[in-house]
Amino acid sequence: MRRLPIRSSGIARRRAVGAVAVAVLCTGGVVAVPASATASGTTPRPAPATAPAEPSPTLDDGLALTPPMGFNNWNSTHCSADFDETMVKGIADLFVDKGLKDAGYRYVNLDDCWALSARDANGKLVPDPARFPNGIKAVADYVHSKGLKLGIYTSAGTKTCSDVGFPGALGHEYSDAQQFADWGVDYLKYDNCNNQGVDAKQRYTTMRDALRATGRPIVYSICEWGQNKPWEWASGLGQLWRTTGDISDSWGSMVSLMKQNLPLAQYAGPGHWNDPDMLEVGNGGMTDTEYRTHFSMWSVMASPLLIGTDLRTASDTTYDILSNRDVIAVDQDPLGKQGTVVSSDGGRWVVSKEMKDGSRAVALFNETGSAQRIATTAKAVGLPSAPAYVARDLWRHTNAHTAGTLAATVPAHGTVLLRVAADAKWAAYPPAAELGLDEGVFIEPGASAKVSGTFANLGRTPARDVTVSLSGPAGKNWKVKADGPTKAPVVQGGRSLRTRWTVSAPAGSATGSYDLTLRATYRSPQGTKITSAAPVTAAVATAPPSGTSALGDLPWLSAANGYGPVERNTSNGESAAGDGNPLTVGDVVYAKGLGVHAASSVDFYAARTCEQVTAQVGVDDEKDTKGTVTFEVWADDRKVASTGVLTNSDAPQALSADVTGAQVVRLVATDGGDGVDSDHADWGDAQLTC
Ligand code: GLA
Repeated sequence: MRRLPIRSSGIARRRAVGAVAVAVLCTGGVVAVPASATASGTTPRPAPATAPAEPSPTLDDGLALTPPMGFNNWNSTHCSADFDETMVKGIADLFVDKGLKDAGYRYVNLDDCWALSARDANGKLVPDPARFPNGIKAVADYVHSKGLKLGIYTSAGTKTCSDVGFPGALGHEYSDAQQFADWGVDYLKYDNCNNQGVDAKQRYTTMRDALRATGRPIVYSICEWGQNKPWEWASGLGQLWRTTGDISDSWGSMVSLMKQNLPLAQYAGPGHWNDPDMLEVGNGGMTDTEYRTHFSMWSVMASPLLIGTDLRTASDTTYDILSNRDVIAVDQDPLGKQGTVVSSDGGRWVVSKEMKDGSRAVALFNETGSAQRIATTAKAVGLPSAPAYVARDLWRHTNAHTAGTLAATVPAHGTVLLRVAADAKWAAYPPAAELGLDEGVFIEPGASAKVSGTFANLGRTPARDVTVSLSGPAGKNWKVKADGPTKAPVVQGGRSLRTRWTVSAPAGSATGSYDLTLRATYRSPQGTKITSAAPVTAAVATAPPSGTSALGDLPWLSAANGYGPVERNTSNGESAAGDGNPLTVGDVVYAKGLGVHAASSVDFYAARTCEQVTAQVGVDDEKDTKGTVTFEVWADDRKVASTGVLTNSDAPQALSADVTGAQVVRLVATDGGDGVDSDHADWGDAQLTC
């Protein structure tokens, strides 16, 4: 990941220009079950995969028996002047007025920059009078008067993480903890900057003891970024611990943290939670689909849900996401299990969370830039054998029954979140259906392609009056013609209706991905009418010229990138288009190629007419030693070449891949397994021979 923006007062929040994520291939369609930083001082390191270790003893103080829910100003304000008493009180008001308190949100937390940079003559912390003219106790009293709780922040070091460097608590633990308790603080986030190299366990234990000595119940949030594997030792100290470096408001950052946190499921439970950092929902650097994925995956991972957007200016959609009680119930389930990965082939993730009532929350998460069919079974997610299951779609709030298959076509970067139970009353619910195209759609501009779509009844009762339709992208004059039946009076459980279509793209359509929609309506045996829609992606592309072409000059079908856009013939500068440098690996400069930032994936249309990809790959010299990348070439769904993990001390590596017969050639740069920090990846001299 790129470094966090410099933190100091007045910092501007950076909006990631963001992953250019465009869908390409379509795979099946939907209807599943009713379808649907771095800190100054020290450097956060991502959490490495862990060998199982004995979890440390847990606290029996009854705090945070479910993951803490609330608000923290950092992600929306950093240290800007927006962070003040008015904001904090405004958030508390909105918690009540907008129903967030009723939905479970409790903590209103202050992050860095609330204090003055010097202690007073008695060594006490002094709230910044410009931000908190009435002090912190007045804010706590206000928040408490609303039935909410107040959180505060400091660092287990001599100064906090802001560049200004507000006083840290190292050496002042007992006095600072007492001051917090006297103010009525209910939650402490204890950071890791400027820690003077003192052992982490020792630093975090001293503050635990200091908090205890106050006699006030205070949730203790350990924020050492996963550097010292706190999951192995901190459950006897605090109720939650950060497992990662800082989140930023981009798809690449969010997914990277999710992947670091997922393997730590065994360490989470009531009163001791893994914390992959606060929410970015609503901050503008991701799409609403991506924010729904963020909220779904944080809930399936039983993560703290700390809202990180300024609710005073949040959109209705942001409120809808943050207030989804079906999803919150997954996060807050009293059994307190963190979901575990069932499968993740090709970026199609299935993550299952055991719930106290025996059901499973099942996330079908599509990491890729194109709509994907993601399927699993009730058995695979851990449910007992049963004649049928009831699945609730937690974003659509609809129920259906299935004989066992759980499947949906999930849009690019989307998540279908289901809650599935073996339920003897399954027959009272409509049969689930799955809707999708059988294969990817590729069309040359001005030409047409034949595609087939399937409506499959996943249930045990008949679907009646089934009608399917396929429509082209809105307002683009595509033509779609059915070549076979689009209606069936009945489709029995376990059977399907298959329809052939001819799809034509107008001449002059630009290379790229276009969203089509496959729709179905049907009736349950009880007469309920069900409507569902599957996202389908069609790629419009012209076959590449015969001979050898520079990939830096060919149009791509889609490109997803960790930070900023993929760059042609320069390195990746992390934000705006064209902000890179000459592609340079090990002092060798390449005039042509692609400059990307992990995690990245760039798709080119090869039309089954190409043979070979070659490139000189490596981490660009512009980055320091933290950059680690693995380069891969894919021919459709097959990985046909891969480097090991390359760092920026490696010379360029020659990569050659046989892509014979591939419809799509994909260039992938992964984070090398340690998070995306500094992962500037160069495809020097990348060429495609057809
Ligand atoms: C660190 C933490 C962040 C935030 C900042 C404040 O980077 O990890 O969550 O608290 O410090 O400076």
